[in-house]
Amino acid sequence: MTTEKLNIGIILGSTREGRVSPQVGEWVKGIADKRGDANYEIVDITDYNLPFLGTTDGTEPGIAAWNEKLASLDGFVFIVQEYNHSISGALKNAIDFAREAWYNKAAGIVSYGSTGGARAAEHLRGILGEVKVADVRAHPTLSLFTDFEEMSKFNPQELHLDNVNAMLDETIAWSGALKTLR
Ligand SMILES: Cc1cc2nc3c(=O)[nH]c(=O)nc-3n(C[C@H](O)[C@H](O)[C@H](O)COP(=O)(O)O)c2cc1C
Repeated sequence: MTTEKLNIGIILGSTREGRVSPQVGEWVKGIADKRGDANYEIVDITDYNLPFLGTTDGTEPGIAAWNEKLASLDGFVFIVQEYNHSISGALKNAIDFAREAWYNKAAGIVSYGSTGGARAAEHLRGILGEVKVADVRAHPTLSLFTDFEEMSKFNPQELHLDNVNAMLDETIAWSGALKTLR
């Protein structure tokens, strides 16, 4: 096993104007950074200006940069929001834009929505299987009604803290184990 710290990307799954995912991502990063057990960074899909898959010749620099970023990471925490009982189109598009850069890595999921984003998270688990990302069981689910004020200002209940740490424990353990396969 390597003694180097793992690199974990906290991927913001939404891109819309007014999105709340940056607030949730920063909260997770704050908890993660206190642990000191990995290098955690926010990865924002909007920074890559990805086109819609298949509508261009694929030479946009953001596509290569997105793949390079993913390749530099050992594991992921997906910040997932529920859009029509699934993940956002932007996140699905971003997942589809890479292949090998995902393989043999691990991921945790933090989701939100009216029912904690559970339906979106379950869809994501199916997608991750196809790109050979092992999704861990511990899964913080945040409610738009009790963890947000007016569904826009993030104010999480304390009870989620243990679950975020459990999710990170599992993500780090599996990310380290899978690194030995690559
Ligand atoms: C197109 C659309 C569809 C949505 N569908 C659902 C849904 O099926 N279930 C749910 O719980 N919330 C749903 N929502 C509410 C979102 O989960 C909520 O707006 C959340 O803040 C979106 O994440 P974001 O702010 O990071 O974009 C939907 C929102 C949008 C914009």
